[in-house]
Amino acid sequence: MVLNSHPGLDDPRWYERAVFYELHTRGFFDSNADGIGDFKGLGEKLDYLKWLGIDCIWLLPFYPSPLHDGGYDISDFMSVAPELGNIEDLAAVIDQAHSRGIRIISDLVMNHTSDEHPWFVESRSSRNNPKADWYVWADDDQGFSEVRVIFCDAEPSNWTYDQQRKQYYWHRFYHQQPDLNYDNPEVADAMLDVVRFWLDLGLDGFRLDAVPYLYKAEGTVCENLPATHELLRRIRREVDASYPNRVLLAEVNQWPGEVAEYFGDGNECHMCFNFPLMPRMFMAIRREQRFPITEIIAQTPTIPEGCQWGLFLRNHDELTLEMVTDEERDYMYREYARDPRMRKNLGIRRRLAPLVDDNRRVAELLYGLLLSLPGSPVLYYGDELLMGDNIYLGDRDSVRTPMQWSPDRNGGFSRADFAALYLPPLMDPVYGYGSVNVEAQQRNRSSFLHWLRRMLMVRHHYPQFATGVMEVLPADNPSVLAYVRQAPERETLSACAPLMGGQEAATDGELGILGLVEGLGPSDITSPVQIIRPDFAEKNGEVEATPKPPVVLCVANLSRFAQPVELSLSRWEGRTPIELLGRVPFPRVTAKPYSFTLAPYDNYWLELVER
Ligand code: NOJ
Repeated sequence: MVLNSHPGLDDPRWYERAVFYELHTRGFFDSNADGIGDFKGLGEKLDYLKWLGIDCIWLLPFYPSPLHDGGYDISDFMSVAPELGNIEDLAAVIDQAHSRGIRIISDLVMNHTSDEHPWFVESRSSRNNPKADWYVWADDDQGFSEVRVIFCDAEPSNWTYDQQRKQYYWHRFYHQQPDLNYDNPEVADAMLDVVRFWLDLGLDGFRLDAVPYLYKAEGTVCENLPATHELLRRIRREVDASYPNRVLLAEVNQWPGEVAEYFGDGNECHMCFNFPLMPRMFMAIRREQRFPITEIIAQTPTIPEGCQWGLFLRNHDELTLEMVTDEERDYMYREYARDPRMRKNLGIRRRLAPLVDDNRRVAELLYGLLLSLPGSPVLYYGDELLMGDNIYLGDRDSVRTPMQWSPDRNGGFSRADFAALYLPPLMDPVYGYGSVNVEAQQRNRSSFLHWLRRMLMVRHHYPQFATGVMEVLPADNPSVLAYVRQAPERETLSACAPLMGGQEAATDGELGILGLVEGLGPSDITSPVQIIRPDFAEKNGEVEATPKPPVVLCVANLSRFAQPVELSLSRWEGRTPIELLGRVPFPRVTAKPYSFTLAPYDNYWLELVER
């Protein structure tokens, strides 16, 4: 049994309360001035991530790769791309992260390999070699005719003819990414070896790439097949048996009911990304109506105990519009991707800030939703600065440009010559590193970066954001989305204590939540429960909830105009709403409708406190 070496990390359900941070090692920080980010560079920036308040890093593929698909075309599953460092460098970064209370997961690409992977090289060499059926081969390209093409901009078919073997092979993505054939049991065995290899090194889990497509069957769309679920349960059994405290986070770009099946009965993946919700947050804001969000939430099944959604606004791919109707997709393109260069496959290849026209209020509102709707938020590197994109770069490189650390050469990302950089950093007047960078935003207490950091601190203090139930409150005004997040009755706050490892003490009273608590200095944040939870009392060293579950009310104005709303809060009559960023008390709740006047895109989190 392999235990993670740092005692603070011994928590099997950490992922339910964690804030994830997705990063591209190649684009984060270059320690050796070759123009490419690397593991040593990431190690140098861990203090920044700790300061920001994230709990888990998700590394995009770092394996050797010809880079036809940003590293998702892997030519060796058991080593590290030499330009990023070596296995020892990765092990060192995992250790450094763990010692700061930060976990690291990485992508695991099970569906396909690169066409340069030795398995495929062997498989294509003849029809009777030992790996001949490790991939999906056919004499014609007529099979699986009901299957959609995902990379529809680049690939006319999921079949490609191979001159050497004189047969067609199957691929769900680029033709340089042949799909593995899981009907051959040796393939699954080989993939389990890969799983063990990285978990033995100390990784805290995997983001499981493209899992719906693992098994194929004629007459189906080759997605979500029972055998695929069976394989995931096998992997989960293996992880549970030998690797405690790890997470499997599935990338399943499907409708809510289908995604939820990947939790199994709590015996498949611990987490799944909530793909259906993501575009609907953007839709709701442009329509200035809550219904896209509330309708998809109503369709989302309850998930088993111990499972969690992964919520995100943007990631390293296009903003995918596969799980919306044709009409909704047209709407999204009209609103968010007028220039055809902004479109890719069935999606929009832009970052968050340009999507919202660099409107900070909208960005704050979207993050407010991300951090308070049910699930664990997954941030995308650079979006904490409201970094921009470059739609003149190919494919999804538009959103993978170097992290902007400072106004120095190459944005402080690398000391290499500009021409040597893996991608050019942004240099335009709005989003370029001269104006958008970590150094400037760390210095400026009213920057977006500081705002987000404060929001993460608040979120970490309120476990109901992570694991509480959600109830949408009726509101006559369709532009207002109001909901409560409520912890289960007996939830103990000691459960959230490990999270505080990811939080730096707030200084100078910058965080209202602490600043307004009289007599407490920054070091007192290590016992946050006593600071902010008047509903809780300490008993036998454990902090226990009083019978009344704490309630957080979230109110969001999705409109660009000021809006009024009256909410029926009489269930909480007598409680005082306390705004969570400033700890400012609002008028007490009575039996009458409770009124809010909301400025454009306002977003409030209020704890309903008994006083
Ligand atoms: C999903 C990944 O997010 C994407 O970047 C990649 O191109 C495909 N899977 C294929 O691996």
